Amino acid sequence: MGGILALLAALIVGTFFPMAHGSSCDAAAAAPGIYDAMCLAETDDSSKILIRGGTVVNADRQFHADVYIEDGIIKLVAPDLKVLDGVRVVDATGKYVMPGGIDPHTHLAMPFMGQETCDDFFSGQAAALAGGTTMHIDFALPIDGDLLKGFESYRRKAEPSCMDYGFHMAVTTWNDKVAQDMETLVKEHGINSFKFFMAYKGSLMVTDEQLLQGFKTCKSLGALPQVHAENGDAVAEGQSRIYDLGITGPEGHALSRPSLLEGEATARAIRLAKFVNTPLYVVHVMSIDALEEIARARQAGQRVIGEPVASGLVLDDSKLWDPDFRVAAQYVMSPPIRPAGHNAALQAALSSGVLQLVGTDHCPFNSSQKAAGRGDFRKIPNGVNGIEERMHIVWDAMVNSGKISPSDYVRISSTACAQIFNVYPRKGAVLPGSDADLIILNPNKTTTISAKAHHSNIDTNIYEGWQIKGNIEVTISQGRIVWENERLNVARGAGRYVKMAPFGQLFDGIVKADIAYLSSLKAPVYRK
Ligand code: URP
Ligand code: ZN
Ligand code: ZN
Repeated sequence: MGGILALLAALIVGTFFPMAHGSSCDAAAAAPGIYDAMCLAETDDSSKILIRGGTVVNADRQFHADVYIEDGIIKLVAPDLKVLDGVRVVDATGKYVMPGGIDPHTHLAMPFMGQETCDDFFSGQAAALAGGTTMHIDFALPIDGDLLKGFESYRRKAEPSCMDYGFHMAVTTWNDKVAQDMETLVKEHGINSFKFFMAYKGSLMVTDEQLLQGFKTCKSLGALPQVHAENGDAVAEGQSRIYDLGITGPEGHALSRPSLLEGEATARAIRLAKFVNTPLYVVHVMSIDALEEIARARQAGQRVIGEPVASGLVLDDSKLWDPDFRVAAQYVMSPPIRPAGHNAALQAALSSGVLQLVGTDHCPFNSSQKAAGRGDFRKIPNGVNGIEERMHIVWDAMVNSGKISPSDYVRISSTACAQIFNVYPRKGAVLPGSDADLIILNPNKTTTISAKAHHSNIDTNIYEGWQIKGNIEVTISQGRIVWENERLNVARGAGRYVKMAPFGQLFDGIVKADIAYLSSLKAPVYRK
């Protein structure tokens, strides 16, 4: 213990540090009225923080310890650390100290279905921080099929960021330049995953042939292929069928793309990934049909990752039948939120390890944007909110109900994502040397979710009125307290682009499996 105290004494020498990145009130300048109430005095800022008396939770265990942070890094995790002058002390007695959430699936400032999502990188990330998420991985879209142009455009859009972020890159067509750009993105720009859309016919959708080429290229680069798994041809057919029946409202969205189409595409993607011998990541798993395909493949030893999203875990499709278009349209996303029963099955799959991590698919459109599809559900921009709510929703639904432990919660909300995308243990752990991205959760405090109180730009909330027990009272990002006493203290431009290296743990052993396959062929047969 004496050694730790001596080390702490050596570390703690300074006084309060001025803010490293611009003024917290830059936010107010950028969006007058919205952010005024979020600004804290700059004197609240400190680069040295001691979180005292809490229960530290990592994915492998929980234990009582203090956490000492300096200059954005966790320096010490040990009981009974002593505090010296110049250190901000945060009392976490009776509370959980956990790694900040990592959301693997968001769409900030994304052009989609003739609209642009109403959260940019600043407002979306401010909302995320208020909800305990300290890093997210957004989907960069190509511009006219050009991956590099799309990536550069997203880097520019992300300049106002106030927290750490990475990118997946979408692949929406196939040619030699796409393959070259994928290589450039992996080798020079920190991309280690590519998303292929099996739906959205006529815009983002790729064919099976393109999917195969994409999977092969991903494998050779050590990048993880991701799929939006719905049969896009059948969805287009289903949309015409339902519309022609005179069903034009938001309920038509659910009826036109039933879960069997998600199951079919999931099975197809899994089999193509097996054929190529590449790991595969299935985004927004929304149905029993899809999760059963993933379970079967995993049971057979295939490396398939399944990502449910908060909405799919806790909602059912009933709101799509709401007589008020404004209410019903909020719930339109793809694959659709399914009838009751799928949500419970997704939660069970998550708690039993069939699915590995939770995203949000945060893709917010305001009521005025959703109104583009009044009279034709096919034109309602697809997407729901969630970046701010995920951590609370999952805690309430799964930890409070006893389905998972706090350590499991850390794993599915943070650690697994960091491991899959190869940024662990920099992210996803409360360990000395890790980034000081942390949350303090009070398990006894109850709050209510509402569009009036949330921080996202969206004017509705799919969880409106939900009472949540378990409140994230403090969020620390890069070693700075950015959320405390229900107030944000965020700095425009403080967020960092996190490069993610290829050949993460899912690729270990892939070459050996290739060799085993080749040696099993017993061919060619050399004939006379
Ligand atoms: O409805 C959704 N999911 N919108 C975002 C685009 C996508 O498919 O992820
Ligand atoms: Zn998708
Ligand atoms: Zn998405």
